[in-house]
Amino acid sequence: MSDLLKNKKGIIFGALDERSIAWKVAEKVHAQGGSFILSNAPIAMRMGKINELAEKCGTEVIPADATSMEDLGNLFDAATAKYGKLDFVLHSIGMSPNVRKDKAYTDLNHDWFQKTLDISALSFHKVLQTAYKKDAMNDWGSILALSYIAAQEAYPFYSDMADAKATLESIARSFGYHFGVKNKVRVNTISQSPTVTAAGSGISGFEKFFNFAEEMSPLGNADGDSCADYCVVMFSELTRYVTMQNLFHDGGYSTTGITSKVMEKWD
Ligand SMILES: NC(=O)c1ccc[n+]([C@@H]2O[C@H](COP(=O)([O-])OP(=O)(O)OC[C@H]3O[C@@H](n4cnc5c(N)ncnc54)[C@H](O)[C@@H]3O)[C@@H](O)[C@H]2O)c1
Repeated sequence: MSDLLKNKKGIIFGALDERSIAWKVAEKVHAQGGSFILSNAPIAMRMGKINELAEKCGTEVIPADATSMEDLGNLFDAATAKYGKLDFVLHSIGMSPNVRKDKAYTDLNHDWFQKTLDISALSFHKVLQTAYKKDAMNDWGSILALSYIAAQEAYPFYSDMADAKATLESIARSFGYHFGVKNKVRVNTISQSPTVTAAGSGISGFEKFFNFAEEMSPLGNADGDSCADYCVVMFSELTRYVTMQNLFHDGGYSTTGITSKVMEKWD
């Protein structure tokens, strides 16, 4: 099938380079007939390759710092001026200064912690609130953010990002209620396997953990391309009654207690 998203319009946040999950989502949405504006933080415009992606998908980039209501307002105004109401939004944004600077969870810089929460979680509320107040979404639209299982279980290396993801998932539930009642817009998070990207590999010990998760998942780690496929399905009409959920996309990791591959290591 190649027209799952025919006539659907949206905004995709967070494509930095070709490893980014948002990059892969943009390619797959484009292949399924969807149209979108790409957005990223102004600084990422200089560091990344997002203009290459825009060219490939025949679209434009509108920079927005996702922590700024003013930037988000301008972005949604530009998107609705171009397309009319929108059908999908992907929030694929995360950053922790504490993780970047390898600060232990027991020694966090609390100013940085607030930045982590603002960039990685509250920005999702800001996106949702902007879309809601501007009445920017079509009925039965779909809004997604990307999460990680450290929202439910302790992953020491994930530091304050774990708290951000727990908040992100809660925002999806809380706003999903209001957006559903307003005009049947669904709001979900996808909890993705460890994936080799700029954000992923910035976490110390990522490679070891990636390999551990691979052996703890009956299907192996879900890769970025498969995550993008799942996002396409969640943007399509085939999932119109799924809302306020955290959806695990992790090869079975989240419900596996032990695997024989991991047990063999203790022989
Ligand atoms: N890579 C993994 O292992 C993994 C696993 C589960 C969930 N996720 C989540 O997937 C999402 C995408 O991450 P990724 O792995 O593709 O890495 P990535 O580094 O390619 O994407 C993160 C994006 O966030 C953007 N960003 C940072 N600050 C911003 C701001 N203030 N305003 C707007 N954009 C900003 C960055 O520019 C970048 O494009 C994140 O939410 C991440 O936590 C990643």
